Amino acid sequence: MCGIVGCVAKENCYERIYAALSRLEYRGYDSAGIAMLQEGAGFHLRKKRGYVSNLKGRPLAGEAGIGHTRWATHGKPTDANAHPHGCGKFMLVHNGIIENYLSLKEELCAQGEQFASETDSEVIVKLISRAYTGDFFSAVRTACRRLRGSYAIAVLCSDHPGEVIGARQGSPLVAGASDTALYICSDIPALCGDADYICPASDGEFICIRDGKIQFFDEAGSELCKCFTRVLPESRAETSVSGTFMEKEIAQIPRAIADTLQGVSSLDYAPCARALRAAKCVYAVACGTAFHAALVFGDVVQNTVGAHVVCTVSSEFRYANLPIGVGDLVVAVSQSGETADTLEAVRLAAKRGAFVIAVTNIAHSTLAALADFSIVMRAGPEIAVAATKSYNCQLVCLYYLAAQMQYFRTQAYPVWFLSLRDLPAAAEAAFDCFPQMSALAAKWKDARGMLFLGRSLDLRTAAEGALKTKEIAYVFAEGYAAGELKHGTLALIEEGFPVVALSTRRDIASKTENALAESKARGAQVVLLSQSEESLNESCADFRIRLPNLPECLMPAVAVIPLQYFACRLCLLRGYDPDKPRNLAKSVTVE
Ligand code: F6R
Repeated sequence: MCGIVGCVAKENCYERIYAALSRLEYRGYDSAGIAMLQEGAGFHLRKKRGYVSNLKGRPLAGEAGIGHTRWATHGKPTDANAHPHGCGKFMLVHNGIIENYLSLKEELCAQGEQFASETDSEVIVKLISRAYTGDFFSAVRTACRRLRGSYAIAVLCSDHPGEVIGARQGSPLVAGASDTALYICSDIPALCGDADYICPASDGEFICIRDGKIQFFDEAGSELCKCFTRVLPESRAETSVSGTFMEKEIAQIPRAIADTLQGVSSLDYAPCARALRAAKCVYAVACGTAFHAALVFGDVVQNTVGAHVVCTVSSEFRYANLPIGVGDLVVAVSQSGETADTLEAVRLAAKRGAFVIAVTNIAHSTLAALADFSIVMRAGPEIAVAATKSYNCQLVCLYYLAAQMQYFRTQAYPVWFLSLRDLPAAAEAAFDCFPQMSALAAKWKDARGMLFLGRSLDLRTAAEGALKTKEIAYVFAEGYAAGELKHGTLALIEEGFPVVALSTRRDIASKTENALAESKARGAQVVLLSQSEESLNESCADFRIRLPNLPECLMPAVAVIPLQYFACRLCLLRGYDPDKPRNLAKSVTVE
């Protein structure tokens, strides 16, 4: 969470930082700030609560600068808590959480320091300032040695115009270069259009921009030899679109699925063949939407391959005391590849000797670097905070992985394997449901709560539909097992209560029908999504929505699309911005 950028450029330095911050805004938008260092004139600072656009105005002068867009952790979203934070000759921006900041703050207060913000970050700039004896890099290194927790920082020093120093421990940081500017930044797409070459830093490394070049150093201060790679066009994110990013990203789903299919089918799975064939136990870890994809993977592997998959949300993985070890397989799913909880789960799994497969959208992510084998989906940049196309693409990767697992075990692909190629067209066909979903959103615009019901794989889709509805439309929603309703939750149903039901498995359709009949009998308004018109009794739903027809195990990849769209419409009709839901950020790099 939080996005940071540092830039050295003779021309338009402020504008470049502003442009990068606008692209980093998905990481947090509680406040934003830019500090410029102008030779002979010192610092110029602009920081404000709210969106990056609040920093518009006459560009601040300077040849070096740092910028920040904040997702608040320590201290409310106020102007005072906005970064950059300053102390003496230094200005700093920080992404991450300093876990020992309270004891450091006490120590610094005892030495007479006064704090202008409630943030954990301000201790870092104070430590740097106190460690400074003329050597900028050495002061940053000395301060970093005192920090516990996670950080990516960018620092300016007024004695060293034209220099920016960055450090990374647990939060992402990359260096970027073009003919006219040198950067450090939280991610690659934010440097779109302005950095042709990039190089990610690893934990414990420092990036120094000085004398017109970028150098990497390790914790001991020794220079590292690193390779820069050319930025691929796919990494370049767009900044402005007509309509919202979320609408645009939903519209991109068929293309993203097709691109991802092409990517996964041209991958060589030999390096993970042994793990897929012989894993003693398979674990799937992820958070939020990615966890719903992991659950689908678990169901599909169980049904297709017959292997049991333990699916655990990443934040619980470390505390579940799982008997994980050598010979086990861990599949970690993460769009960003930077989710702190998932990274910690993977570190633990790797330490215990398990083989780790990453499914991520970002080839240069920390997750990809930690994993033994990576499957990189080709969803393209996803800017809206709520995951949409990345979910569909995660499913494509995971279906492919399940099929490979079956192949390595039996020398035969599952019966649904060839139908994967029908997914892009089926996703497009799911758009036919949009007018009905739009009408439904208008009808339920003022609802205070909703239930999404399903069984088996439909339960995963229901959970994802409910999560989207909660996170962007701020309507309480629950994805619930249809059969569980009668064990308590049915008490919530009253006249007009909205219920969205999914029924894509013909063999258990009549069971779902029971739950819908029970809901309707209590006054619920029931909308039913199914690929077959006949599968359910007419009387158990008020509206029916026809889904495209695919093998049942592939249905989650398309059945979710009308629900993603519904949540987006509901959000817009209720007057909210689907791209920037309150309290959230796209990349959750804190535990
Ligand atoms: C919901 C959403 C989140 C993410 C979760 C994991 O729409 O986007 O629930 O899915 O924070 O993020 P990644 O996939 O980047 O690990």
